[in-house]
This record gives sequence, structure tokens and C-alpha cells, in this order.
Amino acid sequence: MSHSFRHWFGSSTGHRLNSSIRAAFLFIVGALALIISVNCVFGREPLVLRASSSHVRGGDEGGNGGMQMLQHDGRQVESHEPVLVSEELRRTIKEEVRAEILAAMAEEEKKRRQEAPHARPGTLGDGERTVSRQEQLGQLYPPTATLSEGQRRRILVTGGAGFVGSHLVDRLMAEGHEVIVVDNMFTGRKKNVAHWIGHPHFMLIVHDVVEPILLEVDQIYHLACPASPPHYQYNPIKTIKTSTMGTLNMLGLAKRVRARMLLTSTSEVYGDPQIHPQPESYWGNVNPIGPRACYDEGKRVAETMMYAYRSQGGEGDSSMEVRVARIFNTFGPRMHPNDGRVVSNFIIQALQGKNITIYGKGRQTRSFQYVDDLVSGLMKLMNSDYELPVNLGNPDEYSVKDFALLVRELVRNMDSQIVHLPATKDDPAKRKPDITTAKKELGWEPTVSVRDGLAKTIEYFRKELEETGEITPTGPEAARPQPHVEESKRS
Ligand SMILES: *[C@@H]1O[C@H](CO)[C@@H](O)[C@H](O)[C@H]1NC(C)=O
Repeated sequence: MSHSFRHWFGSSTGHRLNSSIRAAFLFIVGALALIISVNCVFGREPLVLRASSSHVRGGDEGGNGGMQMLQHDGRQVESHEPVLVSEELRRTIKEEVRAEILAAMAEEEKKRRQEAPHARPGTLGDGERTVSRQEQLGQLYPPTATLSEGQRRRILVTGGAGFVGSHLVDRLMAEGHEVIVVDNMFTGRKKNVAHWIGHPHFMLIVHDVVEPILLEVDQIYHLACPASPPHYQYNPIKTIKTSTMGTLNMLGLAKRVRARMLLTSTSEVYGDPQIHPQPESYWGNVNPIGPRACYDEGKRVAETMMYAYRSQGGEGDSSMEVRVARIFNTFGPRMHPNDGRVVSNFIIQALQGKNITIYGKGRQTRSFQYVDDLVSGLMKLMNSDYELPVNLGNPDEYSVKDFALLVRELVRNMDSQIVHLPATKDDPAKRKPDITTAKKELGWEPTVSVRDGLAKTIEYFRKELEETGEITPTGPEAARPQPHVEESKRS
């Protein structure tokens, strides 16, 4: 020590350092010592402990980890410190979230086993097909038929968590097929398919068809698109993208895996029709820049794309199999309560004893088909050899006013008055399907009367109202669907 000290600072070796350099050196050493001692007292070590203990508290109380962990009890942290802190926290948060998910899964499994004591965990979806397994499934899920390998198809339903899609899923599952639902949950609702979740033949993929997806399927029912005016007008650009890019993506998939594809088009391709009723050969009367254009024109070009792929696909093995259904007004259980359609609005208003609102004089006519009839038609069309567009609807025609009176009569709430509001832009005066083609080519026609269908739909909304409390119907203006109504009001 003394040797080296003298080596650097002494004069015995005759190697004298210049006095100004010596002064600078001593200054630097002093400054370093000061920084090290300050760091020991206020350094990062205590902060890590404080931060993680506050995280544990927050996690215990809030149950969902996350953002409050990074607040450090409101203390300021030097800019380079939080990186180290949050790395460690992130790991802790992940662990906690994982633990919570595992606990929730265990809880669910427990509940299931109480409801179905014979279902052992791990027996569902393991590929063995025994009678006892069928029995186990029967206790957990609605009944499904058993199809041989050759008969069973793997079927993609885009928009399968929506109103029509979920009823189609129910029928395909009941027939014994494997069903993959792709839905972005914009107007789709998890509760519509909740009764199938976990079934070995069922899969729900939350995905937006505007992005490509790779799947192996035999048939594609392409329903994905918001279909009620307030919902499709909420984000018109997105609606156009869904009909164009979404349909292109599905056509690409269908072509690649050689799946037959059915597009659900719409009576809106006829616009405000000048001939009545509308046969498929009618080209329509659509305003290309009106408020409904994003949907109408989107579906029109989607039809165009279907037949472009069909004719460019070549002959024989490489040819594309396409089906196009033009769906007219449809109603039934699982209609979105905020879809702003006359059926749901009238029922919700009447059930709550509110006045029934009609836009315009109510002389505009509509024809309403019950959803079960539509699903039969879609499946018949898919499995037929007919390749041109087919109208699916109920020609039973009502004026909107008469329909409001019928709903009021069936709900048996005479307190509700019929109230008229100004007519909405581009609301078609008449819409009624000519279903000659469906009768001739598919042997299909509606079998459920509007009255019977309404009774079932009213029952559905009665239960919905009991569960969710008050529902305020959506007017004709663009509106965002409110998928979380049921959750937020229940808690
Ligand atoms: C229903 O309409 C009638 C007649 O227009 C009106 O007198 C009444 O206040 C309205 N009721 C409600 C609950 O809005």
C-alpha cells in the first residue's frame, strides 16, 4: 500500500507527477466515492422490495395484477431504474395471472363434475368413440348424432357466434359434424355458442376475417358481417372491408383446401326495389353513395367475387363450388337486442310497457322469416347442386304498422302506444321475396308462421330482460353493438 501510494504520489522514485494532474486525479476519486455512497443509501435495492410488495398487495385485493404494480406507491423513480423493476414485476405478474387462470379452470372442472359426475377429466376429446363417452357428452351438451368418418364434415362458420350463425352451428352440431366458428365478436356473442364450448366437435376461434386464416375444412358458411343498419353503419369502412377482404380471404381458403363455400348475401342487393316481389333475376336499385351502401354494395361485390372465383377456377377438380343465399328479414331468439331492427325493437318496447316507435307512417312493408326456416334453407342450398343466387325469405308480407300491432297483441301489453317518428333515409318502401327458385331447386319453403316465431322470440326477450334489466332499443342511427350489456348489468 505504502509502496504503491509512493509510486503514484510520492517523490522517492524521482518520478514526480505534475501537481495540476495530481489535483485533478484527487478530485475524480473524491467524486466517485460520493456517488457510490449516495447510491448505497438511495439506490435501487430498497425500491425493488417496495415495488414488489406493493404489487402483491394490489394483486390480492384487485385480483387482476396489472397496471397498478408499476406505480411504486407514487414515488418517483430515476429513469433508468424502472426497466430493472418492471422486468422483475412482469415475471411476477405473469405467474399470478397464470395461477388465477389455473384456479378458475379447476373451479370450472369441479362444477362440471358436480353437474355430470360420470364425466372424467381428459375423457372428452381424446378420440375414442364409445357408448359411455356419448353418454358423458350427452350430460354436458345438447344431443348430437353420430356420423361415420365418411359422412362427418369439418365445417367453418364465419360469424358463427352471431344470431343466424349460432343457430346454424346448433343444427350442424346436432347432425354430428365438426364445426369451427370464426368470429371477431363485434356483433357475435359468446353466450350464443357457450353451450358448445369444450365439445370435442366444436371450436371457437376469435378472429377477424379481414385477416387471412389457414384452416382445413370441407365446407365454409361465410356469414361474417354486421347485418343490421345501425351496426353496419357504425364503421362503414370496416363493413366494406369485411365484405370485400373478408370474402376474398375466405375464397382464397376455399380454393386452397377445395372447400365448397356459401356466401350469405342479402335482400339489400335489391336496394329500394322497383319490381315487387323480387326474383333473383332482378338487378336491384341501390344508391351507391347512400348510408346503406357500405353494406349493400359490399355484398354485391362479394357476390361478384364468388362468381369470379367460380368461373376463373377452371373445370373438373380445380373448379370452385360456390353458393349464394340472398337472405330477407329474419328474426328469432338470439337477435341482438341493440340491432335496431323492427322485430327486436317492437318486442323490447312492448315487453317494457314503453311506446312502440315507428319511423315514417308505417306503411312500408316487410316480410319476416323465422330463423329455423332460414337455417334449413342455408343447409339445403349448401348441399344442393344449384349454383346461382337463391332468395331465402318468407313472402308473408306485413306493413310495419300491422306488425307493431301484432307484436303488441302477442305481448299482451296494451299500455304501449304506437308512436310515429320521421322516416329514415333510404328505408326501402317494400321488400318481399319471390321464392320460386328455392321451392323449385331446393324444395324449400318457410314452415314457421310469423305468429309462432314471434311467440318464441318474445319468450327469448322476456328472459333477456329478466337477466339484464332494462334495454334501450337502438334507433335508426349508426350505433355500436353493446355486447357486454349482460355482463356489466349482472355484476
Ligand atoms: C306514449 O305515447 C302517448 C301518446 O303519444 C303519450 O301520451 C305518452 O306519454 C307516451 N308514454 C310514454 C311512456 O312515453
